[in-house]
Amino acid sequence: MAPIPYGGNVAVTGAAGFIGSWVVRLLLDKGYRVRACVRDINDKERTDFLRQMPGYCSGRLTLHSADIDNPGCFDEIFKGCHAVAHVSHVTTYTDHNYVKSVCDHVINSINESGTVSRVVVTSSVAAVMSEMNLDELVRRPVLYEERYPDELDPRRTAERQGYSMGKIIAEHAFVEAAEQHGFWEAITCCPGDNVGPILALHQKDRGPWQRHIQEMLLGRYEQTWVYRPWNPVDVRDDAACHVGLLESLEVRNGERYIAWSTELIDVEDVCRGIDRLLPELNFKVTEPLEVHPEKLQARESKYRAIWAQCDLRNDRMKAVTGVSFRGFDESLRDCVESLIGVAKITPVKRT
Ligand SMILES: NC(=O)c1ccc[n+]([C@@H]2O[C@H](COP(=O)([O-])OP(=O)(O)OC[C@H]3O[C@@H](n4cnc5c(N)ncnc54)[C@H](OP(=O)(O)O)[C@@H]3O)[C@@H](O)[C@H]2O)c1
Repeated sequence: MAPIPYGGNVAVTGAAGFIGSWVVRLLLDKGYRVRACVRDINDKERTDFLRQMPGYCSGRLTLHSADIDNPGCFDEIFKGCHAVAHVSHVTTYTDHNYVKSVCDHVINSINESGTVSRVVVTSSVAAVMSEMNLDELVRRPVLYEERYPDELDPRRTAERQGYSMGKIIAEHAFVEAAEQHGFWEAITCCPGDNVGPILALHQKDRGPWQRHIQEMLLGRYEQTWVYRPWNPVDVRDDAACHVGLLESLEVRNGERYIAWSTELIDVEDVCRGIDRLLPELNFKVTEPLEVHPEKLQARESKYRAIWAQCDLRNDRMKAVTGVSFRGFDESLRDCVESLIGVAKITPVKRT
């Protein structure tokens, strides 16, 4: 099936979000025509920054209201589009009938468009490696596209692993529908932990990685779960991966590609990094709060050892998109500067 033609029309769902808005911006920079799908175009706080983007004044960028909970909301928007970057979250990931029903109506709008030939579905590395039992990461330590979490673990329930399970349901729904339809294809992008500059104030609390960095700046942050190193990707590189998958001549329906730099960063090193990278801030480095019961805290050293032997891979993404991933320092510096500049966060200072 066809990649997008130069200057072609691309719809982006979740366009007011952190990743979606960077996908919009990169598509515009590369000359495409973009239909930015947001929940409500009248929500100025969340959408005005899109109107400031190049291409809005000429009409190359248009904004469209589409609440993903309303079946049919994409019917008119997708007509005439060559591709869709389906980046949006859904309202909940724990109700899997709901997740599937959202997929079905988005798929129906793609089928009805008559023009969409490629869809990039934003999944997550949670659909690659989110395990209830971390020993599974010892048994299968290579984190690459063919890997899925242990589906047979009885503790893998919608309540505990709803996000990971919901993402896999969505991946399968799109791939199977594309296979059945025959004219379009679905390519899955599985991003790691997105860090980088926010483009609008409302994005400061999302991610959740930029929210964690905001908490560090304010002097109070937690260990990431009991212990889980950050697996970062710069949000700008993630956007480049999405666009690269829309453009690639190599990719095929059903393939999934991981977007991450393959670095592993401890949460306390993220906090220390703020001071190391931006000494001008006179930022007061703090240690993470221990919020877990002692029984769980005792597992931290075991979890550190498990993560240290994991092998994160991004060979496939680099091969098909040519994206070269930024180092975390650049993502962290630019995230911090945007939290201060765009979101007006005042970092705690050393006395
Ligand atoms: N951030 C990460 O590190 C990360 C990592 C792996 C995967 N992902 C995936 O990447 C995608 C984007 O994440 P993000 O970090 O950019 O999140 P985000 O900033 O919260 O953006 C998500 C967007 O989805 C929209 N949305 C949610 N419910 C909606 C609804 N009912 N109708 C219409 N729009 C709705 C939100 O609209 P409103 O602004 O109106 O709420 C928001 O613009 C998600 O699918 C997420 O699972 C993210």
